[in-house]
Amino acid sequence: MSESNIESILQEKRVFNPPQKFADHAAVRSMTEYQKLYNLAEQDPAGFWAKLAEKELHWFKRWGKTLDWQPPFAKWFVNGKINISYNCLDRHLTTQRRDKPALIWEGEPGDSRILTYAQLHQEVCQMANAIKQLGVKKGDRVGIYMPMIPEAAIAMLACARIGAAHSVVFGGFSAEALKSRLQDAEAKLVITADGGWRKDKIVPLKDAVDQAIALDVPTVQNVLVVQRTQQEIAMQPGRDHWWHELKAEVSSNCPAEQMDSEDLLFILYTSGTTGKPKGVVHTTGGYNLYTHMTFKWTFDIKEDDVYWCTADVGWITGHSYIVYGPLSNGATTVMYEGAPRPSNPGCFWDVVEKYQVTIFYTAPTAIRAFIKMGDEHPNRRELSSLRLLGTVGEPINPEAWIWYHRVIGGERCPIVDTWWQTETGGFMLTPLPGATPTKPGSATLPFPGIVADVVDLGGNPVGENQGGYLVIKHPWPSMMRTVYKDDDRFRRTYWEHIPPKDGKYLYFAGDGARKDEDGYFWVMGRVDDVMNISGHRLGTMEVESALVSHPAVAEAAVVSRPDEVKGEDVYAFVILNGTHASSDELKQELKQHVVKEIGAIARPGEIRFTDALPKTRSGKIIRRFLRNLAAGEELVGDVSTMEDLSVLDQLRQG
Ligand code: PRX
Repeated sequence: MSESNIESILQEKRVFNPPQKFADHAAVRSMTEYQKLYNLAEQDPAGFWAKLAEKELHWFKRWGKTLDWQPPFAKWFVNGKINISYNCLDRHLTTQRRDKPALIWEGEPGDSRILTYAQLHQEVCQMANAIKQLGVKKGDRVGIYMPMIPEAAIAMLACARIGAAHSVVFGGFSAEALKSRLQDAEAKLVITADGGWRKDKIVPLKDAVDQAIALDVPTVQNVLVVQRTQQEIAMQPGRDHWWHELKAEVSSNCPAEQMDSEDLLFILYTSGTTGKPKGVVHTTGGYNLYTHMTFKWTFDIKEDDVYWCTADVGWITGHSYIVYGPLSNGATTVMYEGAPRPSNPGCFWDVVEKYQVTIFYTAPTAIRAFIKMGDEHPNRRELSSLRLLGTVGEPINPEAWIWYHRVIGGERCPIVDTWWQTETGGFMLTPLPGATPTKPGSATLPFPGIVADVVDLGGNPVGENQGGYLVIKHPWPSMMRTVYKDDDRFRRTYWEHIPPKDGKYLYFAGDGARKDEDGYFWVMGRVDDVMNISGHRLGTMEVESALVSHPAVAEAAVVSRPDEVKGEDVYAFVILNGTHASSDELKQELKQHVVKEIGAIARPGEIRFTDALPKTRSGKIIRRFLRNLAAGEELVGDVSTMEDLSVLDQLRQG
């Protein structure tokens, strides 16, 4: 953290009340209203959610029990029948929303498409029929490896429509990373594109799919390819099919399958503390309700809003708040293929201006990058359509918050800092913009129905402004159900780290936090071996496994160090095999090797060769010291457990 940053945290004590004009028209207009909702949910959680589920969603058949909680396994809306694609599409068609833009898409080269609800419905039905024709059935898993084009959302909704579970893999992941995710999900079909545009270059997605399957994914029988970038690609007869060709053949009539509320909706892989990403499992009914309600209240959505979330559909933010939450609410959601780049540093603001975006949701790392690019880019555009701003992915430094508020929000837009995770499915801590006074850097208070706290390792609440572990004390509708095919890992990772307290199970989020004198939560970052690089989650062990798979590497230890724009950056300590000499070329080669094994997001910012690593007597690497070294700080903490103290001297001098 830079000095000016520390200064800003110390000095930024202002509280920002919701502007009166905003509150006057908001769904939740005051803290009294928020408190009422919160109390209602606290007194009778099942009744609270049941009422909303009845009012807000379409069910083919009503559920029996609202919550069946056999810790740590939850079932919501037991035996209810529902389809999220129906709730996102069909039910809007009999209303005025039929011809309302559902999806506004802007391609990086400047091409664009607007799909109304009726048009999106038709495309989803066609893709659903196409994948059925390719042998996909209810319960099968489908890999989606796509650029940010409408067909990414169409593919997700098509899977949901026929009851196949999707597993979207971020298009920035490498063939190797794609392979392990497809393998674990035992995907039967992969939906991809020839390529996608990113920073004026083509990302060759289909090539990566070919490589992944060739590496060893025998379950994949077919590949459906959307044409986007139009470069020459290999198509394997019998296995690979062009979407535009199948689309011309199939019917656009495809009734939505009646799914059980607890049927698998999707698997999304995320990084944990081991080298192997976990398949986070989300099911249908509870996820639909919770993403619907959080989107509705947190973004205070109105019929004529134009909402833009800049995430990628490959992450949970894209799932919940580009696709499912907005469409379930009948909102207009903007999707953008590109990323700010030197050739067009103002491209985001062009999109805001062009489509008169009213709600804008992005990550702190993006905000910090905008600050660096200069105020002239947003200042040159008309941003007065904006009425609400949001952030997600990492703690936002108050400096970035204030800039966002002033330069992008024109000091009139509330900011919702939303804390949540792949595992939680939807927002957990967040302001409600018409009600909650905000403090820069705090995700404020729990969403109604969420019982959050900060505790010690024994599960005891810590005092005011004391650091501790962030936990959730009551099940909520969109909580992850398990780790795919690994109930045991689910239990160990989230429910046993802090033992049940008075018979009550606590969900351990993996984040450190404190609660201030007003009960506001301040999330401090991960307390486990998970890094947060540009808002992307990455396990230290994943990068270590990637490094040691290179023949020159004997051992590797990876930590993160603070970075002005990315938040954190990857820093790797590497011990080479005896026969290999250290060199700058080898450093570059190893960085490239990590990109090949995982993807560009994991490229180490720095690699440092060393002869030894600080370890405990039982052989565990002491990452704490490595973090200090990487950040150029004094070593903090107890050295008495160390096996060989001279290692530290070596590293300090190194
Ligand atoms: O450390 C927290 C951080 O991102 C982690 C979750 O990452 P992921 O599952 O990839 O989901 C990101 C998008 C929801 C959390 O454990 N995080 C997310 N949002 C915030 C945050 N940290 C502080 N403030 C936030 N608003």
